[in-house]
Amino acid sequence: MRTLTIRDLPDSAYRGRRVLVRVDYNVPLEDGRVADDTRIQATLPTLRYLTERGARVILVSHLGRPKGRWDEAYSLRPVAARLSELLGAEARFVPDVVGAEARAAAEALRDGDVLLLENVRFLPGEETNEREVAEGLAALADVYVNDAFGAAHRAHASTAAVAEVMRQEGRPAVAGLLMERELTMLGKALESPERPFVAIIGGAKISGKIDVIENLLPRVDSLLVGGAMANTFFRALGLQTGRSLVEEDRVELARQLLERAGEKLVLPVDCVVSGEAKPGARTWLLDRDSVPPEGMILDIGPKTVATFREYVDRARTVLWNGPMGMAEIEEFSHGTVGVARALADATARGATTIVGGGDSVAAVQEAGLADRMTHVSTGGGASLEFLEGRTLPGVAVLDRSDDA
Ligand code: 3PG
Repeated sequence: MRTLTIRDLPDSAYRGRRVLVRVDYNVPLEDGRVADDTRIQATLPTLRYLTERGARVILVSHLGRPKGRWDEAYSLRPVAARLSELLGAEARFVPDVVGAEARAAAEALRDGDVLLLENVRFLPGEETNEREVAEGLAALADVYVNDAFGAAHRAHASTAAVAEVMRQEGRPAVAGLLMERELTMLGKALESPERPFVAIIGGAKISGKIDVIENLLPRVDSLLVGGAMANTFFRALGLQTGRSLVEEDRVELARQLLERAGEKLVLPVDCVVSGEAKPGARTWLLDRDSVPPEGMILDIGPKTVATFREYVDRARTVLWNGPMGMAEIEEFSHGTVGVARALADATARGATTIVGGGDSVAAVQEAGLADRMTHVSTGGGASLEFLEGRTLPGVAVLDRSDDA
């Protein structure tokens, strides 16, 4: 079963019609301006596709977690300003979501216009997936498009119930081009990757990534583990980890995983160790079996970067989720940057490289290497849940066809 997209509908579905597009404009703001517009830029292909066909586009998004209350700090108004700059045409803004003002603004649209509604999480019924909110949203438009991959793991009124209302009323509910790309890229890695297929998993805790590891292990040729979660594996091997972060209650799980995965699971061989996790800290490069009692492992070492690079160099598909160390601190960022460079080189020689998850995406952007990856996911929690093999509620409710 294939999720239908905006490309499956005839152009006549758009001309002069109002199209409600759920986007994920949950972007960082600083001093009332958008600090990172990656998520806005990522929706431009969908917006252009629709406006070029004469659609009257109504955008709905959340921003932050205002918990059902109106709060100017979470207003989407600054996003409309940035979107207008990117579109090269005015994106109108209305400080309302499903009320009379929003309806009037939607009705005033002309072919090719774009309107952004206020933060849908100002409504108490959004996060509880209430039908009343969904009906209010559905009443604004003839077609529903979900292009918010980053919010597709949420069963909220603007991602789930609204699509059900539209479909019950015989109106289309389809995926946008960004959603399509995310599902295709991540889906292909899981279902039919070109081999060798190497996954690199990092981050602080095994507990947060265990479902991803379980889902990936049978699919990958090699699974490389970095970040603080490697410490728990070190303990399972009987190594000393000093004052490093270790999940004591997961050591047994790590031991079982090592036994089950055999040579597929590759751990760091050396690490960056320090007495303190702060900028300017003194660091030591040590093999993993020489960590002193007072030391903390805060990054993978250069030998590990070189080993991981060898795997990446041989791979046809590389999937990366989670940083290799405390990458937000320069002293402990070299492992993460080294992996990012290896992926960039792999892309250049024709491999498919996919980066998913908020922290690794931030690291790739920080290193200026984002545009040297095949795909950088706009989803944090959503890409994690997808890689865990879960069905995303915002995708499950969309129209499907039987063809592959
Ligand atoms: C994200 O930033 O991961 C998405 O926008 C979802 O936000 P949420 O975790 O507040 O639902």
